[in-house]
Amino acid sequence: MSRYALLIAPSSNRVYADTAPRLALAELAVFGRTALKGRLGELEESTFGGVPYVTFEAEDLTDRDVAYLSNLSAMFALFRVEGDLLRPVLLNRLDTFDDDLITIQKYAGKTNEQFTKLLLNVTMLASGKDLLADRPVVFDPMAGRGTTLNQALMYGYDALGCDLDQKDFEAYAAFLKTWLKRKRLKHRAEVNPVRREKKLLARKLEVTIAGQQSLVMYNIDALKAREVIKVRTADLVVTDAPYGVTHGAHHKGLSRKPIELLEEAVPGWVEILKPGGAFGIAFNTFTADKDDIAQVLEDAGLMVLDMPGFTHRVDQAITRDILVACK
Ligand SMILES: C[S@@+](CC[C@H](N)C(=O)[O-])C[C@H]1O[C@@H](n2cnc3c(N)ncnc32)[C@H](O)[C@@H]1O
Repeated sequence: MSRYALLIAPSSNRVYADTAPRLALAELAVFGRTALKGRLGELEESTFGGVPYVTFEAEDLTDRDVAYLSNLSAMFALFRVEGDLLRPVLLNRLDTFDDDLITIQKYAGKTNEQFTKLLLNVTMLASGKDLLADRPVVFDPMAGRGTTLNQALMYGYDALGCDLDQKDFEAYAAFLKTWLKRKRLKHRAEVNPVRREKKLLARKLEVTIAGQQSLVMYNIDALKAREVIKVRTADLVVTDAPYGVTHGAHHKGLSRKPIELLEEAVPGWVEILKPGGAFGIAFNTFTADKDDIAQVLEDAGLMVLDMPGFTHRVDQAITRDILVACK
């Protein structure tokens, strides 16, 4: 049995950095139960040279095991513990693009990138799909300026999104087009109106990268997602609900609490999800009750999974938690 030590990625957000080891443990536990098939043990927080690490035990990790673990959202470096020395393990991340795709955009209300990756990872693993081999379509119905969509692209997956905020939609379309041009990546990107009975229903950003990866984002109320997206289009729903701080939930006016929006919109999003797919949602526990959201997911026919250890403080107005469910 070998012992391994995971060095947590530095985070620009101080509060997130403080909770990162605990979140890394919870995420590592999900990787251990799923992709690593129960072969990780003794997961704990440790310190080497005054620096916090997360450590675990395993029979010698295969290259494939390391390839899974390389994608942990908090992974900065991995070492094998040999006596009181640390031997580096070569990481092999899934990342297909430069990381400025995820980090360059800065705006109020952006979901922390590391946390977005965590939510995508645990939702993907909950679906039983292979993080490394499968290429799911990831749907974020409240995509903002695309943190989830960008992380999906980063993994080589396809991305699908909605947001009703016109400024967010335009800023994201402009960002992605500029970024693709600047990186000299072969692509097609267009924004077109979607009309129904001569009325404007939505605007649609459609991007194809290197002829093989696709991103579609609609500027539309997520309540109407089914009017523009067919049933069984997405393998995963991954979304960060409005916290009632920078963003409110738009549902018959603006509300600090997202529950009414979720009650009405989730059944449509679940129709968009393929059978066997998984649904991961983050929310502010000060404005949304976990049991209420779990009930909404169950009422829509999903099975809510037990995923302990992800509650964490973001600031004095936000304590964030997640729910993950399967169809
Ligand atoms: C927490 S933010 C998501 C931020 C996003 N993950 C990002 O990093 O850019 C919640 C988003 O929900 C959107 N939203 C609120 N009500 C909505 C509705 N009815 N339909 C679609 N989007 C909605 C807001 O415009 C906001 O962008």
